[in-house]
Amino acid sequence: MSQDFSLSLPDLTDKTVIVTGANSGIGYHTACELGKAHATVILACRNLDKGNDALKRMQENIKGDNLHLMSLDLSDLSSVRDFVKDFTDKFSKLDILINNAGIMAIPKRTLNNQGWEIQFATNHLGHYALTGLLLSHLLKTDSSRVVTVSSLAHGRGQINLKDLQGEKHYSPWQAYAQTKLANLLFAFELDRLLKENKLSPISVACHPGVSKTNIISTGVQVDGQMTLIGQFMTAMTGIFAQSDYAGALPTIWAATDKSVAGGCYYGPDGIGEVRGLPKLVKAKSKAYDVKLAKNLWLLSQELTGVNFEFN
Ligand SMILES: NC(=O)c1ccc[n+]([C@@H]2O[C@H](COP(=O)([O-])OP(=O)(O)OC[C@H]3O[C@@H](n4cnc5c(N)ncnc54)[C@H](OP(=O)(O)O)[C@@H]3O)[C@@H](O)[C@H]2O)c1
Repeated sequence: MSQDFSLSLPDLTDKTVIVTGANSGIGYHTACELGKAHATVILACRNLDKGNDALKRMQENIKGDNLHLMSLDLSDLSSVRDFVKDFTDKFSKLDILINNAGIMAIPKRTLNNQGWEIQFATNHLGHYALTGLLLSHLLKTDSSRVVTVSSLAHGRGQINLKDLQGEKHYSPWQAYAQTKLANLLFAFELDRLLKENKLSPISVACHPGVSKTNIISTGVQVDGQMTLIGQFMTAMTGIFAQSDYAGALPTIWAATDKSVAGGCYYGPDGIGEVRGLPKLVKAKSKAYDVKLAKNLWLLSQELTGVNFEFN
């Protein structure tokens, strides 16, 4: 799909949006398109040099002062707390939170400052904590929504509640798939809790099919060298993957379309949901397992110390 394809977005002038991982791939195009539709967009990035570079490229097409770069390292709980303080000091409401940032298949088990496995910390726990700490802002904003970016990889995922951090056994791909299943369990459980508490925000999920982004080159390396599987995947995505712009369309759709309903999941409409235009899709049944979602929620709450205050 060419970049000429464009969703016709509503005017987003009064909307405040956070996009995590906005300097690259899906997050970059999502932030750019929402910015073009006049939303106030916060680019939440871990590397401010890369963030600044992305901001400059976006500003070639967006002339207003509606784009803001802020520092956020999702793998570090203290950075998540600092970001939320900084954001809530500056902005009085939050219309759309896009939990997009992610890393994939880190070859050697790596721990963050809190001692958590880095993929679980970044892809799931960081977004869990970020959303919980921003909940009061979401609750005081009319029709706000949380969009969480998952993956087809959730289908291979299992939540290993006895070894969430891969201490006993670490597989890079299983660890990634676990986080992408966790993203869906989190997104759907959040929506159930919002509904139970009769609150207006919605929580939805999406996935970009298979898209050409930096996620392979960032993750699948040992000592700066791409692993064999990384080389294979780069070759395969070169052939089969859609552009990063096309990959961003389900996220943009989930974030802005009026038809989007809480608890739903959006992805590409092509064969196997690998590429195409956004449509409503269905996750594997394990993503709708309420008991598993509640167990994961409790563990995430215990680990991060972040409690969602629904009233
Ligand atoms: N590409 C695909 O085919 C595909 C398929 C399924 C799902 N996804 C999902 O799509 C989402 C976006 O990935 P992408 O494909 O666009 O990859 P990408 O181009 O590598 O972008 C990932 C973004 O996340 C940021 N990030 C990584 N760790 C972070 C941290 N600790 N704190 C804050 N930001 C962090 C990266 O920052 P740096 O630039 O500093 O690394 C980058 O901005 C991910 O959730 C991924 O799981 C992608």
